Amino acid sequence: MNLAIVGAGYVGLVTGVCFAAKGHRVVATDKNLDKIKSLQAGKIPIYEPGLEDLLKEVVRAKKISFTEDLGEAVRAADVVFLCVDTPPQENGMADLSSVESASRQIAKHLAGYKVIVEKSTVPVKTGERVGRTLEKYCPAGVSFDVVSNPEFLREGAAVQDALNPDRIVVGTQSEKARQVMRELYAGYAAPILFTDIKSAEMIKHAANAFLAMKISFVNAVAQICELAGADISQVAQGIGLDKRIGSSFLNAGIGYGGSCFPKDVDAFARIAQELGYPFRLLSEVQEINRFQRQHFIRKIEDELWVVKDKEVGILGIAFKPDTDDIREAPFLTIAEALMNKGAKIRAYDPKAAENARKLLPSVRYVETPYAAAEGADCLVIVTEWKEFKDLDLARIQKSMAHPTVIDGRNLFPPERMKELGFVYRSVGR
Ligand SMILES: NC(=O)c1ccc[n+]([C@@H]2O[C@H](COP(=O)([O-])OP(=O)(O)OC[C@H]3O[C@@H](n4cnc5c(N)ncnc54)[C@H](O)[C@@H]3O)[C@@H](O)[C@H]2O)c1
Repeated sequence: MNLAIVGAGYVGLVTGVCFAAKGHRVVATDKNLDKIKSLQAGKIPIYEPGLEDLLKEVVRAKKISFTEDLGEAVRAADVVFLCVDTPPQENGMADLSSVESASRQIAKHLAGYKVIVEKSTVPVKTGERVGRTLEKYCPAGVSFDVVSNPEFLREGAAVQDALNPDRIVVGTQSEKARQVMRELYAGYAAPILFTDIKSAEMIKHAANAFLAMKISFVNAVAQICELAGADISQVAQGIGLDKRIGSSFLNAGIGYGGSCFPKDVDAFARIAQELGYPFRLLSEVQEINRFQRQHFIRKIEDELWVVKDKEVGILGIAFKPDTDDIREAPFLTIAEALMNKGAKIRAYDPKAAENARKLLPSVRYVETPYAAAEGADCLVIVTEWKEFKDLDLARIQKSMAHPTVIDGRNLFPPERMKELGFVYRSVGR
């Protein structure tokens, strides 16, 4: 099938490349012309494992191309994917201006029947608005259907997830659109769940809110473990072995970050409120998340006593491993809080340093984890990159001014760290 991708960011680019790999013909467009120019030159603007190689493959096979001209992408397409950003506004509501403006632009180029797919994460009832906007701005006599097909990929495993999703949710009332979506996903093993548009929109918000709730729940239990002298790793294992609960998303740490959970939980709470239901559970999920981060910062400060002029090494900048995404990354809050108190920060991340440099230029970005530790008063672990688990800890211990590790991701067994001669503080243990 011929597909158009509008918005070639993390989701749009991965979606486009993966559909191309499944044999569809994809034209992707973005309002950010630098991004399109770089993609046309074969350069990929983000880090996502496996994406670069797959992109090369589908470009070579002429299955994907990039254009600055949205009209060109839309005119050729049977299905048009809206993959634009839906960031939070000041009040927590989703900012839908990109969805609105992209819908208006798409409308102008509609000719013949097309399916317009909402892939961006949006509050329930956005599909209705998209439909009305398309209707208002499209040429007379044109027919189309709006479908909600939320994206569940995880950054860091996005290619894998987009090629082999757990489930495919398709929200539409139109049998014709359902048939198009069946054909689009014919090469996928995952079950397709057909729903109405509003339910599909709600599934995405509810799924992300549930996962965030699981993280906040285990973080709250970790706080109690610290107070009681229990060990959250053992507690989480004991809870997770219950099949009704499951072990994923039960790692205590410094709370969730990233471009999805914080904004989606907020947006879900706000739309619920607007519709007349005060979803207080979600306010608490957010509050626990904020507390967890602040508690971790206090733990570092407590170890350093006076923060001013202390050398602090930070391992991990990205909001999670295997991505260069720093949106809502805990690193930003932690580094800023310590710098405000006069600490000197050096930080290491395998992929995200360049993005962070633009936001926090006064941090010293170093090339290796060992350079972050050398001579430091304290080493703080913020992101659980696999390479940190394999560090030569004895070398780090010897190189630090004061061998103190504050671990926000519980990477190491406390007994081992003690044996190695570290002052070691982690979360909930
Ligand atoms: N990042 C994730 O892990 C993830 C996962 C699932 C769902 N989502 C959702 O998918 C959507 C996109 O997220 P993202 O992380 O890819 O965002 P992003 O900011 O990386 O990408 C969005 C892109 O859309 C482009 N854009 C905005 N308006 C446009 C317009 N009118 N015409 C053409 N291009 C336009 C932007 O320039 C940008 O490149 C969001 O709603 C997000 O919540 C994200």
